[in-house]
Amino acid sequence: MKKFLALFLAAVLVCSTAVMFAGCGGKTESSSAASDSKTSDSKSSESTATKGELHMATNAAFEPYEYQEGGKVVGIDAELAQALCDKLGYTLVIDDMEFDAIITAVSSGKADFGMAGMTVTDERKKSVDFTDSYTTAIQAIIVNDGETKVAKADDLKGATVGVQLGTTGDIYVSDMEKDGTKVERFSKGADAVLALTQKKVDAVVIDNEPAKKFVEQNKGTKILDEPFENEDYAICLKKGSELTEQFNKALAELKADGTVKKIIDKYIKAS
Ligand code: ARG
Repeated sequence: MKKFLALFLAAVLVCSTAVMFAGCGGKTESSSAASDSKTSDSKSSESTATKGELHMATNAAFEPYEYQEGGKVVGIDAELAQALCDKLGYTLVIDDMEFDAIITAVSSGKADFGMAGMTVTDERKKSVDFTDSYTTAIQAIIVNDGETKVAKADDLKGATVGVQLGTTGDIYVSDMEKDGTKVERFSKGADAVLALTQKKVDAVVIDNEPAKKFVEQNKGTKILDEPFENEDYAICLKKGSELTEQFNKALAELKADGTVKKIIDKYIKAS
């Protein structure tokens, strides 16, 4: 009996070690496959063989770009990332995290790329590389109906303003702290809007398309007409990553054949 038990334990140990190695092997395989493709210089970005997984870091609380639906991350970025991976022959894996964790995940190599309605900024360019832009956005100001204090961008000076932590909205409004603006930073845009409906902040600064969704979902709020900052969205990658070139090539093809427009139009209806 003892002997049997020892044998059994040994077998369990061998199995679990094998599983562990298989797990590691899988990882190595995907990264080496990724580097294989880096060295190949085919004319088109088209590929049929799967080269392994690519992990996309995102913050899926930003409809229509990325949000959870039925246990899945959907939205413009999720679909465009899928189209890029299909074209290049990678399997897409989406990792949902806090927005302000994305750049670190990408620069440390924990994720292969970041796509999160992310604006290209010079500051971010110090830590990551960006692809060509795939769309543009504007920072919008959301206020409660009947708000009189904040009627235009300049009125944010001296007001209490809610933003999503680490976003460009946060950066712009933080610039006004010297003018007496009080910045309330939330981990989700939805929490900033909730604070607005509870009159804990006077306004929320966030990208225009998510702003429209928030206003739709929160009666008694509205977007100010005055346009704020214009921005370019792009995919971020680890500095020096050769994937950037592959992505740019595939992105150019998806722009040329109308796929990018089709994906955007599916989520943003012309108003
Ligand atoms: N465009 C803004 C930025 O890059 C906000 C992006 C927020 N994205 C998100 N998935 N929560 O800072």
